[in-house]
Amino acid sequence: MARVSEEQPKTRSRAIPYSEAFKTFIPTGWAPYAPDLPEPLPATAWTQARRDSLSALFPGDRLVVPAGGLKVRSNDTDYRFRPHSAFAHLTGLGTDREPDAVLVLEPTDSGHDATLYFRPRAPRTSEEFYANARYGEMWVGQRESLAEMAALTGLTVADIADLEDALAKNASATRVRIVREADAALTDQVDALDHLGSAEADAELSTALSELRLCKDEFEVDQMREACAKTAVAFEEVVRALPEAVRRGRGERWVEGVFGLHARHAGNAVGYDTIAAAGDHACTLHWIRNDGDLRGDELLLLDAGIELDTLYTADITRTLPVSGRFSEAQRKVYEAVLEAQQAGIDAAQPGADFLAPHLAAVVVLVKRLEDWGILPVSAAESVDPETGGQHRRWMVHGTSHHLGIDVHDCAQALAENYREGTLKPGMVITVEPGLYFKETDLLVPEEFRGIGVRIEDDILITADGNENLSAALPKDPDEIEAWMSVLFERSSDREH
Ligand code: GLY
Ligand code: MN
Ligand code: MN
Repeated sequence: MARVSEEQPKTRSRAIPYSEAFKTFIPTGWAPYAPDLPEPLPATAWTQARRDSLSALFPGDRLVVPAGGLKVRSNDTDYRFRPHSAFAHLTGLGTDREPDAVLVLEPTDSGHDATLYFRPRAPRTSEEFYANARYGEMWVGQRESLAEMAALTGLTVADIADLEDALAKNASATRVRIVREADAALTDQVDALDHLGSAEADAELSTALSELRLCKDEFEVDQMREACAKTAVAFEEVVRALPEAVRRGRGERWVEGVFGLHARHAGNAVGYDTIAAAGDHACTLHWIRNDGDLRGDELLLLDAGIELDTLYTADITRTLPVSGRFSEAQRKVYEAVLEAQQAGIDAAQPGADFLAPHLAAVVVLVKRLEDWGILPVSAAESVDPETGGQHRRWMVHGTSHHLGIDVHDCAQALAENYREGTLKPGMVITVEPGLYFKETDLLVPEEFRGIGVRIEDDILITADGNENLSAALPKDPDEIEAWMSVLFERSSDREH
């Protein structure tokens, strides 16, 4: 099977040829590989139950869940690898593990047998060891052996070279389902087999994999708690860095960089591109260019989250006065959003509609827009989903999404189990209303123009209510001012 992984690096024009003497010399004189097997990954105790839940949904079917391959960023340089989220969930492998690996659940009389196919490390006698810049140990580090991967994951493992036969085995009498978007080359190869699957059958697998993650297990909840705690620390570091960000110019980039430093240090990475949006930029919902200045009289909208090595991510937004003090107009808008967010969080209860937090938040925002004389219709007319919606000019997005391994988690779940579903214990959702008054919006009072505010927390639904996983970060405006003032003082102490 001509997997992408077998290709040699594409750009060879600057490669210096290796002499025969070098090839004879390079495999010699290395200490043996470490004899001890690694400890299981933190998630290994939990993944069997997840695979069992999946297995029960598809008796008799062969299930193929690829990690995906390396993606070219430019020329011969790849993006840092991140496995497909379903693969990470079912294997416990996070960070940058494991390009080209494939989890196969092979049907048996009583369920499925899971096997993880991957590229075990190449021996030092292989050319890959020194000559392959994409996969070679000298270039990208040592991969696991079969025994080491089995110890990490608790899975039966096999060499990726055996995958072709495993997929072809009895294919014409088997329904093979694959996560199509994870690995295009492998999907093409599965499609070329004469088997009983179909694109619809594959979509059912993707849906099931998404829905499996709607309610988090205990381990996942702990990870979410940790991701939020680490993100809160990084937000504090950003606040400390604000005076420097103002001084330097291109302060949004400075903010992004400070947050990114802490994300890479405390976790795996940022869970999504940081939005560091000052002033009017906050009105661009996905402002990730982050190339603007920070000015003392502006608000900074910081929407950022740390993703742990296990890939669980926080997704938190705070909107902060760059100077440490809100202006009167900023405070008015801020307080409206805060009130809406509290209404949304209060509505995030087990058994409530998924949309309840959104609707509760919108009722508050619409009332404020009406009070301020901005809304061209009554609040009641605007909230009518059939004929209204005028308020969406100032908050075009929804307040909530599921959060987990993906920042927008469980996206392939059926609408009836997501947007039209109910909240259940173990779900983690965001509550993130906002108001965005663009500088160019002539319908809003001048004092509000160029002010964008969003407040976002990560909410765990519990058996009897909810828990705000990101509550460590202040959001009451007085508390924010007090918090910032302490952080500014401490950071100037550090400098002196
Ligand atoms: N950071 C993306 C979002 O809040 O959904
Ligand atoms: Mn969000
Ligand atoms: Mn966000």
